[in-house]
Amino acid sequence: MRAEWQDTLRSTPMRLTLRLVALFLMTSLLTFAATWWLANKTLLDAADNTLDVELDELSASGNAAGITAAVEALSARTDPEDMILHFEGATGATGNYREVLPGSGLREFDPRDGGDRLSDRYIVKSRNVPGGVLTVGQSADAFDELREVFGQVLSFTLLPTVLLVLAAGMISARRSARRLAAIEGTLDRLRGGNLSARLPDMPGPADDLSRVGTGIDRLAEAQQASTEALRQVSADIAHDLKTPIQRLSVQLAEVRDELPDGASTIGLDRAEAEVAGIVSTFQSLLSIAQIEGGSPRARFATVDLSALAATMAEVYEPAAEESGHNLRIDIGSKANVMGDRALLGQIIANLIENALRHTPPGSDVALSVDGSRLTVGDNGPGIPAEEREMVLRRLYRLDRSRSTPGSGLGLSLVDAVVKLHGGTLELQDNAPGLRIVVRLPAA
Ligand SMILES: Nc1ncnc2c1ncn2[C@@H]1O[C@H](COP(=O)(O)OP(=O)(O)OP(=O)(O)O)[C@@H](O)[C@H]1O
Ligand SMILES: [Mg+2]
Repeated sequence: MRAEWQDTLRSTPMRLTLRLVALFLMTSLLTFAATWWLANKTLLDAADNTLDVELDELSASGNAAGITAAVEALSARTDPEDMILHFEGATGATGNYREVLPGSGLREFDPRDGGDRLSDRYIVKSRNVPGGVLTVGQSADAFDELREVFGQVLSFTLLPTVLLVLAAGMISARRSARRLAAIEGTLDRLRGGNLSARLPDMPGPADDLSRVGTGIDRLAEAQQASTEALRQVSADIAHDLKTPIQRLSVQLAEVRDELPDGASTIGLDRAEAEVAGIVSTFQSLLSIAQIEGGSPRARFATVDLSALAATMAEVYEPAAEESGHNLRIDIGSKANVMGDRALLGQIIANLIENALRHTPPGSDVALSVDGSRLTVGDNGPGIPAEEREMVLRRLYRLDRSRSTPGSGLGLSLVDAVVKLHGGTLELQDNAPGLRIVVRLPAA
């Protein structure tokens, strides 16, 4: 779940969204700040003008007594909550606010700082007039209101917009993450050899990802068709040549019958051996094609892999002895697998035969079964890492094996059978030698 969210956050749509949100926030906040500054300045200018007018009127008399009288007259009619009046004359302070007012000129003043009962802040302006300093203050309500309005605009427009855009980004990121996962899954299956794998239906309108998906599907289709054609051609060739080759071997037998007594049969023997080799090659090609076609799956039953391996080891014991190999079998935990007993026996046979055939006399060959894992290892010359993939191809043999009998189809057959069973085949370095590990799904 956590990884899923991390994926979402790291996806392209989410990154784009986050970038856009950041950009939007930045420009919005900049615009806001500029507007805020302008509005404040306008308010302050207006307050400055009003205060100037007030100061002009109060000091119009031009003498201390007149100013004191004007201030007292106005104070009597004015609530200090709205406007404060203060005249600091030679005889002390008069006005509706007589506490000390710090500062000079136009400024902000908060009487609450002095523990005063007045609840507002004020914009105050002092001026030196004849006989003292005259100060008039106007409630700063308007500034507080402005701040409130800005706060509201901020929380009613900016915040919802950001949340909305984030949610939309998240949704589209999740959607493309799902599409990507579907594409990845299909690619994995295709890579695993399942050429019939296709993208599942992706709900929602088509986008660039679905175009990529369609491209992958087309590619897989073409790949499947050409693989199928190749398979078909080799199966057809094997099939079409089978009859003439069988006829050839019948004819060779007839020639042998008609040979005069005492004639040399060496050439004939060689020809017959050659034909037998060709027949077995075609047989193998045909059975690989058949296995890859998947037809024998209906014959699957539970097979005791360890018992089967023990039987095969017994069968090959005499051959191993004859070729001077030490064949060992090692059975670990037992497990049943679902499969075709004959085909599974065939892969064990092929692997043992390879180990006996492609390693020098005196080599050790170890067959081991642990659960549904089958391993055949030897301490012969092994297969170079770069050729381990290629020996699974039909007819591929290492250069050094050209002189040994065989057609290079044994491992292809093993591969086909393992794939048919949904298992995995691994060729490893046995240091020295080759180790082949077959993992089959347990029944
Ligand atoms: N145990 C092994 N040690 C070294 N090389 C091996 C071993 N097994 C297979 N090889 C190499 O891999 C090649 C392919 O093996 P594969 O079984 O497909 O064909 P083959 O044994 O030559 O012929 P056949 O069709 O009779 O099995 C072999 O020719 C050989 O070069
Ligand atoms: Mg072989």
